[in-house]
Amino acid sequence: MAGRHLHCVISLYLCSCALLLALATVSGDGSGLICAECPNGTFADHSKSDCSSCDPGWCTTESDCTDCSAGTYSHNGSSSCTECSRGTFSNESKSAGCTRCPRGYYADEEGMTECEPCPPGQFAAFDGSSVCTNCSRGSFTNHSATVNCTLCSKGHYTDGPGSTKCGECQEGTYTNTNGSIVCKPCPPGSFCNETKCSHCTGCQAGSAQPKPGSTDCAICAAGTFSVVNASNCTTCPSGRICNISECTECYTCPAGMERFTSYSCQNCPAGPYYISPQNIDLSYFSVGGEGAN
Ligand SMILES: *[C@@H]1O[C@H](CO)[C@@H](O)[C@H](O)[C@H]1NC(C)=O
Ligand SMILES: *[C@@H]1O[C@H](CO)[C@@H](O)[C@H](O)[C@H]1NC(C)=O
Ligand SMILES: *[C@@H]1O[C@H](CO)[C@@H](O)[C@H](O)[C@H]1NC(C)=O
Ligand SMILES: *[C@@H]1O[C@H](CO)[C@@H](O)[C@H](O)[C@H]1NC(C)=O
Ligand SMILES: *[C@@H]1O[C@H](CO)[C@@H](O)[C@H](O)[C@H]1NC(C)=O
Ligand SMILES: *[C@@H]1O[C@H](CO)[C@@H](O)[C@H](O)[C@H]1NC(C)=O
Ligand SMILES: *[C@@H]1O[C@H](CO)[C@@H](O)[C@H](O)[C@H]1NC(C)=O
Ligand SMILES: *[C@@H]1O[C@H](CO)[C@@H](O)[C@H](O)[C@H]1NC(C)=O
Ligand SMILES: *[C@@H]1O[C@H](CO)[C@@H](O)[C@H](O)[C@H]1NC(C)=O
Ligand SMILES: *[C@@H]1O[C@H](CO)[C@@H](O)[C@H](O)[C@H]1NC(C)=O
Ligand SMILES: *[C@@H]1O[C@H](CO)[C@@H](O)[C@H](O)[C@H]1NC(C)=O
Repeated sequence: MAGRHLHCVISLYLCSCALLLALATVSGDGSGLICAECPNGTFADHSKSDCSSCDPGWCTTESDCTDCSAGTYSHNGSSSCTECSRGTFSNESKSAGCTRCPRGYYADEEGMTECEPCPPGQFAAFDGSSVCTNCSRGSFTNHSATVNCTLCSKGHYTDGPGSTKCGECQEGTYTNTNGSIVCKPCPPGSFCNETKCSHCTGCQAGSAQPKPGSTDCAICAAGTFSVVNASNCTTCPSGRICNISECTECYTCPAGMERFTSYSCQNCPAGPYYISPQNIDLSYFSVGGEGAN
């Protein structure tokens, strides 16, 4: 028995070792007998007198190799299988490594056997995600496993992160850009009379709208006028009138008539001279007029 080396695993085969030791002791020849624990990552292979290591995808038990279950891996047959880290998975046993979650999917725990699709409202733009990201404000996704969110189109908006849909601009409001977080009120002088407006319509000449966020324009009353996109109807200036509503331009009274109000003319009184009451000039008024002072 001299010079003979035996590797036995004390933790497992203590009894055998004890027996061998006893036998060695009994034989009186204990010199060559070594009982040693196999190092981590190796196991006592009883077909050999040495310790063996396991293949990748397997890990060592005390006496054998055992396959790594799905969700774990061993890339060099080490002493234990390791759980796949967050953002990775293994869907089969005997894995030598884990796979990164594809874009649109995530693994938020260790030891996952598959990745979960990102829910609607969230996305994962890159491989190996451990979390999904909320769609940013102004964008949305209404399906799962999204790689990228979609901007809200013109006339739509969303103000929250993680949106699954965009809202429609209400009447009187609009957005003229993709990816809006809010609809803006139509400015004075314009209107929108439907939902999902991407632009407001300017008031036509002869109408006006002083308020923002309007759904129509108001017709200018007789005696006033407006040009396009007006926020206010303007009273006809002195000497000019307009006797109809929706007036785009004021005009002077016809010959023999004078402005009475902003929307009506009156006949000039008879007489060689006449100065309108709005424009009294006594030096002229005294010449030839009846009842002059
Ligand atoms: C061997 O592994 C076990 C658990 O796997 C650990 O407790 C022990 O410290 C390791 N021994 C060495 C020498 O690395
Ligand atoms: C396996 O790899 C780990 C590091 O990844 C290393 O610490 C260990 O010693 C290796 N084991 C073997 C048996 O090669
Ligand atoms: C494991 O995932 C891969 C893709 O990474 C796929 O091709 C394969 O079919 C899956 N295997 C099982 C058993 O699900
Ligand atoms: C998702 O959004 C798109 C674009 O807005 C739309 O065409 C589709 O009908 C929506 N699908 C569902 C299920 O809501
Ligand atoms: C995601 O969308 C942004 C703009 O919306 C674009 O710039 C980017 O290329 C997109 N990424 C992918 C992976 O589609
Ligand atoms: C995602 O958005 C939701 C609201 O839609 C919010 O409650 C949550 O905190 C957000 N998550 C992150 C990580 O920002
Ligand atoms: C807005 O999005 C549409 C598709 O929804 C696209 O055709 C258009 O070019 C985008 N406009 C701008 C200014 O990005
Ligand atoms: C909305 O305004 C347009 C003019 O821009 C007009 O033709 C249409 O009749 C209006 N619709 C309603 C419902 O008022
Ligand atoms: C009126 O406003 C519209 C936009 O609402 C603009 O396109 C148009 O040029 C404006 N017209 C004038 C005469 O200012
Ligand atoms: C329009 O009229 C309103 C009310 O009379 C006034 O407050 C506003 O300043 C006017 N706007 C313009 C552009 O004249
Ligand atoms: C407006 O004045 C014109 C003459 O300038 C006249 O023919 C028309 O009948 C008047 N209209 C109204 C509604 O008074």
